[in-house]
Amino acid sequence: VSESSLDLDALQALTLNLFSKMEGAVTATLIHLGGQLGLYRALAEGAATSEALATRTGLHERWVREWLYNQAAANLIEVDTSTPGHEVFSIGPEATALFADEHHPAYGLGWFTSLPTTIGVAPKLIDSFRTGLGHPYDVFGCCGALGIEMSLTPWNEANVVPVVLPMLDGVVERLSAGTNVADIGCGTGSVALSLARAFPNSRITGYDISVHALERAEQRLADESITNVAFKDPRTDPLPQDGSVGLVCTFDSMHDMAHPTAMASIIRRALADDGTWLMVEIKGLTTFAENVSRNPMASMLYGASVLTCLSSSMSEPSGEGLGTLGLHEAAARELATRTGFSQFRRLKIDHPANAFYEIRP
Ligand SMILES: C[S@@+](CC[C@H](N)C(=O)[O-])C[C@H]1O[C@@H](n2cnc3c(N)ncnc32)[C@H](O)[C@@H]1O
Repeated sequence: VSESSLDLDALQALTLNLFSKMEGAVTATLIHLGGQLGLYRALAEGAATSEALATRTGLHERWVREWLYNQAAANLIEVDTSTPGHEVFSIGPEATALFADEHHPAYGLGWFTSLPTTIGVAPKLIDSFRTGLGHPYDVFGCCGALGIEMSLTPWNEANVVPVVLPMLDGVVERLSAGTNVADIGCGTGSVALSLARAFPNSRITGYDISVHALERAEQRLADESITNVAFKDPRTDPLPQDGSVGLVCTFDSMHDMAHPTAMASIIRRALADDGTWLMVEIKGLTTFAENVSRNPMASMLYGASVLTCLSSSMSEPSGEGLGTLGLHEAAARELATRTGFSQFRRLKIDHPANAFYEIRP
C-alpha cells in the first residue's frame, strides 16, 4: 500500500475498530475466568477491595486486582476510585442477575462457559473453508454441551412451561391428559426434563446426535425420580413415523441440522394430524442488510455461526448450511409449507434472541 493512497483518519478509525474486537475477545476471556473462579458470585456478596475479594475467594490478590481492573475498565463492574491503590469494586442487582445468578432468566455468563473450547476449534475450520465440511457439536466435547445447557436453560426453565406452552392452542390440556412428546435437538435435556416434571401423564423423548449431550442428559435424569422421559440418538432410534406424537419441540436446533428439510418431513410423519410443532429459532431477519442494520448483535451472530451453527449444519455432505440466522420467519414458514404443514403462527413472546412458532398440519 502506498502512503499517498491512505486516508489517515479512516486508517485510525479502522484501527480503533480492529482493536475494539481484540478488547472484546480479551475481556470475554476474563469474563470466562471470572465465572469459573466464582469472582462475580463473591462480588455479589458486597463491595470489596482486591484484598477483600482475594480473601473471600481464596485467590491470589495480585491476580484478582488485575482482573478487577479489566472488568471495571470495561464498565462491567462498578468502582469507587476515591482512594487510589485501594479501589472499592461492586456489582449492582442487574449485574448480579447477569453474572452471578445462574437461575435468573437473564443470566448471561453461560455463553462464556465454553468460550475457550468454542474458539479452540478455529484451526480445524481452516480445512472447513477449503472442503465445505464442518463439524457437529461433539467437536466441542462435554464442555460444549455443558456450555449450551448453562446458556439456554435459565430462560427456558423460567418460561417454557408457565409462559410458552399456554400460548399454544390446546397443548397444555393435551399434555396434562397424556401424550407423546419429542424434543428434537434436546441437548442435555433441560426442556425435556421440565416437560416431564410438569406433565407426569405424558411421555417425553429427547433426541440428539451429540454423544456428549446425551450422556449429560442421562446423568441429569439419574439425579431425578421421574420415569416419563428417555433420551435417544435418532440415527439409531428414529422417531416414530405413525402420527403418534402429540407435540414436537425443536429448541434452537433446526438451523443446526445438516438436513432440516428431511427432519421437517420426519416431524410431519411423527405428528398426529391434530398435533403441534413448537419451533424455537433465532430471531433473524430475512436479508443480510436487515440483520446488519437492525440487530446490534449481527456480527457476533454471524461469527458464532461460523464457529458453531454453520459448522454443524455443514457437518454432513450436502448439508443445507442454514447457519445461525438462516431460519428466519420467512424461511421457517416456507420450510413448514414445503413439508406438509398448513398452519403457521408466530407467538407474541418477548425473548432477547429467539422467535417462537406454532406449526400444525
Ligand atoms: C444449540 S443446541 C440446542 C440444545 C437444546 N435444544 C437446548 O435448548 O438446550 C442444538 C442441538 O441440536 C443438535 N443437533 C444437530 N443436528 C441434529 C440432528 N440431525 N438431530 C438431532 N439433534 C441434532 C446438536 O447436537 C445440539 O445439541
